[in-house]
Amino acid sequence: MEKVRIGVLVSGGGTNLQALIDAEDEGKINGKILVVISTKENVYALQRAKKHNIDTVILDPKKYSDRLEYTKTVTEELKRRNIELVCLAGFMCILGPYFVENFPNRAMNIHPALLPSFGGEGLYGHLVHESVIKSGVKFSGCTVHLVDEGCDTGPIILQRVVPVLDDDTPETLAERVLQEEHLAYPEAVRLFCEGRLEIKGKRVIIKSRV
Ligand code: GRF
Repeated sequence: MEKVRIGVLVSGGGTNLQALIDAEDEGKINGKILVVISTKENVYALQRAKKHNIDTVILDPKKYSDRLEYTKTVTEELKRRNIELVCLAGFMCILGPYFVENFPNRAMNIHPALLPSFGGEGLYGHLVHESVIKSGVKFSGCTVHLVDEGCDTGPIILQRVVPVLDDDTPETLAERVLQEEHLAYPEAVRLFCEGRLEIKGKRVIIKSRV
């Protein structure tokens, strides 16, 4: 089976990107990361990509007149490399409907909480974990979901759960969740690359191996 052509969108340290690179290196996913697009220069994610000889592109949303122009440019960079799966991994920009139309059920995001709680515009990074702790819930975790036109609203592929401890700070909780993200994201990508995700409305059914 041909390898799925993957593009990863980042804005930061890129530990999830690293988890995907490692999974590819270890032959755990039938896919190949061909490009990493970053909203910022000087982020560590770009170094991780370069170290693995992955093509990098910096596209700063601030340099575009509006969201559509930016979305079109990102889409174009992916399309001209025939990317089949786009992984948003700490990408700090919301892409518009144009992107979703071009990658229907072919783009994933990872969120550091159990969606549909603690998601949506404005809830990112440590703000997520602060809200989780403040709310008093006993469990948090991470969610890998397909990208639709909303923010953190697409069909959920998989989730992993961690306890919220009495003495947690946003930092300690973030660290516990991040460990699970590094397992969840490669697993979701593996399932996609094996053609095992079946989307039925809001539900993603994981088909068993044939
Ligand atoms: C992760 O917590 C992810 O859930 C969120 O952004 C963070 C990215 O971290 N979307 P990293 O850059 O992959 O280390």
